[in-house]
Amino acid sequence: MDPLTWLAQRRAQGTLRRLRPLERPVAGGLYDVAGRQPLVDFSSNDYLALSCHPRVIATGRRFLEEYGAGSGAARLMSGDLTLHHRLEEEIACFKAQEAALLFGSGYMANTGLIPALVGRHDVVFSDRLNHASIVDGCRLSAARFVRFRHNDMDHLAALLADKRGKGRALIVVESLYSMDGDRAPLPELVRLKEEHDCLLLVDEAHATGIFGATGAGLVEEAGVTRQVDLVMGTFGKALGSYGAYVAADQVWIDYLLNRARSFIYSTALPPAVIGASLGALAVVRNNPGLGQELLARAHFFKEALAAHNIGVESASQIVPLLIGDSATALALAARLNEAGFFVTAVRPPTVPANTARLRFTVTLHHSDADLGRLADVLQELQSGHHPS
Ligand SMILES: Cc1ncc(COP(=O)(O)O)c(C=O)c1O
Repeated sequence: MDPLTWLAQRRAQGTLRRLRPLERPVAGGLYDVAGRQPLVDFSSNDYLALSCHPRVIATGRRFLEEYGAGSGAARLMSGDLTLHHRLEEEIACFKAQEAALLFGSGYMANTGLIPALVGRHDVVFSDRLNHASIVDGCRLSAARFVRFRHNDMDHLAALLADKRGKGRALIVVESLYSMDGDRAPLPELVRLKEEHDCLLLVDEAHATGIFGATGAGLVEEAGVTRQVDLVMGTFGKALGSYGAYVAADQVWIDYLLNRARSFIYSTALPPAVIGASLGALAVVRNNPGLGQELLARAHFFKEALAAHNIGVESASQIVPLLIGDSATALALAARLNEAGFFVTAVRPPTVPANTARLRFTVTLHHSDADLGRLADVLQELQSGHHPS
């Protein structure tokens, strides 16, 4: 199909993606460039508002000035700077793992590390709702790709019994699902991985910085740090910066730096980004209550929705409102936009067919007044009234 017809079809289905430039000054606020309209952002993963934290900015700036704008090369060439090792040591310590390895982004981490872990004679078991970067990593690996129903441990057990095979087997899940805001049953996953002699890789992209006594994530909260083989996460969400990591036993890190192609063949993260990530980790270490504060705010929002009879299911700061039809979700997002809220309608193929939704993310940028007002406007919109 030619691209024009393809685009027209997508437009007709209400699933055409487009870019929308915004202004987001550190001083506060989010602005629609076209209308200069101030918006409250309910779409960002900057959960702890660390992207604007003075310490994060200051460390990023200092590293930029001391070390320059770029790393100049891949880590295995001359791009391997001591500051990369500092961040790896910090993140390994934060995650209570022996060692860690940085990647350019979470997408690059998953598409690099999964094919390094499993190959042609192996099998990978992946939750049906896993992020696209995991799906792409599984596909790239050439391993047998087996998907189990979302969080359905009976289904996984049956598939393991049937398809485990004799090669290496990997189970891969997210600890907190990005589009649904629900959690993986980590203790059951550990039990199954032990019973069937599999590796377990947990993507903590949306949990890091928020859950667990030190903010390390849901693996920490579930008390299964030693049982999970590899934990990955990104600096681009609660940690307010950019880039990603995998943390595991030293032997896995040595192996991955020899085998993960997205690590080997890509320029090392730039100094300012490393500085910002180190700054963010220091803020989280010094303020272990930030995650709880965020979850309390998310709870306040869900209570406000419940008071308006708006039903949502969420065990976290990610609050999806299921709409179903893409066009309706888009129209609702546009109306919310007019009322001063930035929220994206998440549509297929990002989510399964007929499950288009508005995905609200609560962050520490929000005040109780923002959260209450959004719940009020949603109620007015859902009952067919125009918000004033
Ligand atoms: C679960 C999950 N894993 C990985 C990624 C990719 O991370 P990054 O944005 O750093 O590429 C994302 C989000 O984008 C995600 O939601």
